[in-house]
Amino acid sequence: MAKNKTLSNNDSNSGAKIGIDLGTANTLVYISGYGIVFDEPTIVAYDTATRGVIACGNQAKDMVGKTHEKISLVYPMNAGVVADIRATRSLLEYVFGKLGKLNFEFKKSTLLICCPAQITEVERKALIDLSKSLGIEDCFIEPEIKAGAIGADIDIYATEGSMILDIGAGSTNVGVLSCGDVVVLNAVRTAGNSIDSEITKYMKTQHNLIIGEKTAERIKIELATLIPDDFTKSIEACGRHLSTGRPSSVIVKQEEIYPIILRAFEQIKHCIQVTLEQTPPELSSDIIKAGVSVIGGGAAIKGVKEFIEANLPFACHISEAGCDAIVKGTRQLLKNRGNYLVRPED
Ligand SMILES: Nc1ncnc2c1ncn2[C@@H]1O[C@H](COP(=O)(O)OP(=O)(O)OP(=O)(O)O)[C@@H](O)[C@H]1O
Ligand SMILES: [Mg+2]
Repeated sequence: MAKNKTLSNNDSNSGAKIGIDLGTANTLVYISGYGIVFDEPTIVAYDTATRGVIACGNQAKDMVGKTHEKISLVYPMNAGVVADIRATRSLLEYVFGKLGKLNFEFKKSTLLICCPAQITEVERKALIDLSKSLGIEDCFIEPEIKAGAIGADIDIYATEGSMILDIGAGSTNVGVLSCGDVVVLNAVRTAGNSIDSEITKYMKTQHNLIIGEKTAERIKIELATLIPDDFTKSIEACGRHLSTGRPSSVIVKQEEIYPIILRAFEQIKHCIQVTLEQTPPELSSDIIKAGVSVIGGGAAIKGVKEFIEANLPFACHISEAGCDAIVKGTRQLLKNRGNYLVRPED
């Protein structure tokens, strides 16, 4: 796609409201009147020699662990930071290219990019400049935890405090919200990607098996549990034997993965405890009454609810919105541009 092109190719002259969740693992896009129109991995494949884009999203993800030296795979976002602004640009060009077939005028649209609250002013400005250079002048940025809370059906505009836990790929975020905005926020790097790395290390040291990123993720998705004494599953994992170098496979059991998941959730528990300690007392008593809502890919791990309720003094609600919570929440924030004073009405 040509740079700086206005991306609409239709004759409609009204702009749309576009919300983007730029996640470490997945990018999702909401458009007013259309709903969620894009949900693909946040990854770009480049030609190493020409630096041209070969593939983005699903197609690039399919290449993970299978490329040669002429292709380099880049993750634009990592653990709460814009790791590579050029790759972010390539990804957004791909996203906008796909949206171009919808019936609205890009130039007149408003873009909300949801990012980790910790991004720096420089990163924030880089994203806004990027949006402008792609044809959308009107761009604003909001913390993803705020959008996620709305997407999980929390009334963030109420004076009662609420707590939201987002277990993503690059980071886990714990936020306390009240009166329309974030009051306390903490993040740890313990999340989907770090669990995958721990699984990779375990397979190497305990089974002499070198496994790829995708296999580690599959082991996690299939076997991760926080419920002890309920180990029924096992799967075959393929890789390369450490000493022979030959293709090899082993059966991994659920009880082997349990300690890795438990260690990760002990760190997440600590992050929640620290957040509670930093929360003003009136709000913490609201949270004790209302409990915590969990969003993000990690919310699907078996036993998250049981673990939190056994270790912390409140109830845990696994949001049905899961990985869609943030992008769903953009719908409301696009109505009031994130203004904490204005409760958006339908
Ligand atoms: N059923 C599942 N069990 C365990 N983990 C899962 C499951 N489904 C997805 N995941 C993991 O959730 C993560 C992706 O979640 P999500 O889409 O919320 O992350 P993200 O928003 O891209 O990342 P971040 O919020 O850190 O920027 C990946 O690590 C993925 O492996
Ligand atoms: Mg996320």
